[in-house]
Amino acid sequence: MSVWQRLSFHHDRTRDRKILDLFDDPKRAEGFSARLGDMLFDYSKTNIDLAGRDLLIALAEDAGVAARREAMFAGEPINETEGRAVLHTALRNLDASVVVDGTDVMPEVRDTHARMVAFCKDVRSGAYTGQGGRIRDVVNIGIGGSDLGPAMAAIALSPYADGPRVHFVSNVDGAQIAETLAPLDPTTTLVIVASKTFTTIETMTNAETARAWMKSAVDLPAMQFAAVSTSAERTAAFGITPERVFGFADWVGGRYSMWGPIGLSLMLSVGPENFDAFLAGGAAMDAHFRTAPLSQNIPVMLALVGIWHHQICGHATRAVLPYDQRLSRLPAYLQQLEMESNGKRVAMDGATLERTAGPVVWGEPGTNGQHAFYQLIHQGQQVVPCEFLLAAQGHEPDLVRQHQLLVANCLAQSEALLRGRSLEEATARMADQGLSGAELDRQARHRVFPGNRPSTTLIYPKLTPFVLGQIIALYEHRVFVEGAILGINSYDQWGVELGKELATALGPVVTGEVSAEGKDGSTRALVEFVRAHA
Ligand code: F6P
Repeated sequence: MSVWQRLSFHHDRTRDRKILDLFDDPKRAEGFSARLGDMLFDYSKTNIDLAGRDLLIALAEDAGVAARREAMFAGEPINETEGRAVLHTALRNLDASVVVDGTDVMPEVRDTHARMVAFCKDVRSGAYTGQGGRIRDVVNIGIGGSDLGPAMAAIALSPYADGPRVHFVSNVDGAQIAETLAPLDPTTTLVIVASKTFTTIETMTNAETARAWMKSAVDLPAMQFAAVSTSAERTAAFGITPERVFGFADWVGGRYSMWGPIGLSLMLSVGPENFDAFLAGGAAMDAHFRTAPLSQNIPVMLALVGIWHHQICGHATRAVLPYDQRLSRLPAYLQQLEMESNGKRVAMDGATLERTAGPVVWGEPGTNGQHAFYQLIHQGQQVVPCEFLLAAQGHEPDLVRQHQLLVANCLAQSEALLRGRSLEEATARMADQGLSGAELDRQARHRVFPGNRPSTTLIYPKLTPFVLGQIIALYEHRVFVEGAILGINSYDQWGVELGKELATALGPVVTGEVSAEGKDGSTRALVEFVRAHA
């Protein structure tokens, strides 16, 4: 019998028991959590027991996760459909030596990092100016991995922001760039065009809009543009001087790229020292991932909990719920990281997968979500495994009371999901409030919480640059472990191509240059409507 089958049987045998009963073991919380320094990952509020964990670990062992992990760190081409290494880890481990195709790639990585630091110091000190003086604003134009990482981190690390204000434009919808640029002074703004390929239509269109805006106000618009890309040719063709082009290699996947030059806007905002602390946090998680035994390994256990909930228990989605307003963009960031990486239907060899590979990932910061979608999480028919994130300390020393309330709310939610409220408890409460008879019966039923709903909590002292680095590297490695167990390539994204091709073909149909003939009836009708109302 395969480990998958044994896990499935184990689930059938244990699915109806109460997670709360597992806490009869006084060591449950300690035994079903993992630590890295001051960071604690608690998965004791799940239905995973010792036997289940052993089976999950056997799954990771059978899949050769450890060997594959070393192959990744060693620069082997584990992105098989594109024939590329997967080495974003090299960007945060600057002292290492990593050989790809016989060449140590690290001298170039260190050189680019040093150029980024020098440029950021110049901009932040005012040594590098715009044509109207000191750079006050930075606009990062990029999309997907060239936007979500630095945009998420700039909010997460806002207490450390002491450089120019940073803004992010991603959408091809002109509304975003128009609203972003409107209040800015072009003469004191730096535009960074961030695109791994430097061909992405949204980014190139926005870059041209920004260039026209800049041109209308300054004599030398190119002086206020920088670029981040793997293509020096295309950045040159766009007119960006090589001095302000920060390159990286194709072995850095877009959604894994915030550790290198794609993080330029973040470095400008928080400064090189804080950026390097972010890198150090990522490197600390890498070292833990490579050395901690599997049952003590936070990324491995986060991945195995994910596999348990999605592939074994069949829960279709997972909610990421940071009780940290500054992690408000983390769910969006993780949507790309997890769903673009593992939202696949075939294994590495092209065979159709036997089970769905990736759950839908979604979420919002607490406590806001409590007043929106938690109703369904607590009383809906489907189970949504919840992943809470929480800092013991906030950044607002004068508002300690508010932070305590935030902590209490986070802990209350995982407790409520675990315990629920029985019909007897609900009835007793309503009876205390004076209800009786049929009305008591009816009202009590609405107040029942089934409970027994799984959650995990990642808790850390404070959201510092180092801790943010740990968190992001943790989720990257979770994706890696889940992908390795499922036998998929987590590092390609062919699923985004068809829409791009059709959009290119539809462009002239929308403008009327080309007829909509040959399109399906719905698309034809929608095009007609747009043409009639544009
Ligand atoms: O369309 C998907 C994607 O290729 C992502 O993987 C990537 O992060 C994004 O587009 C942006 O690509 P680029 O950095 O090349 O502009």
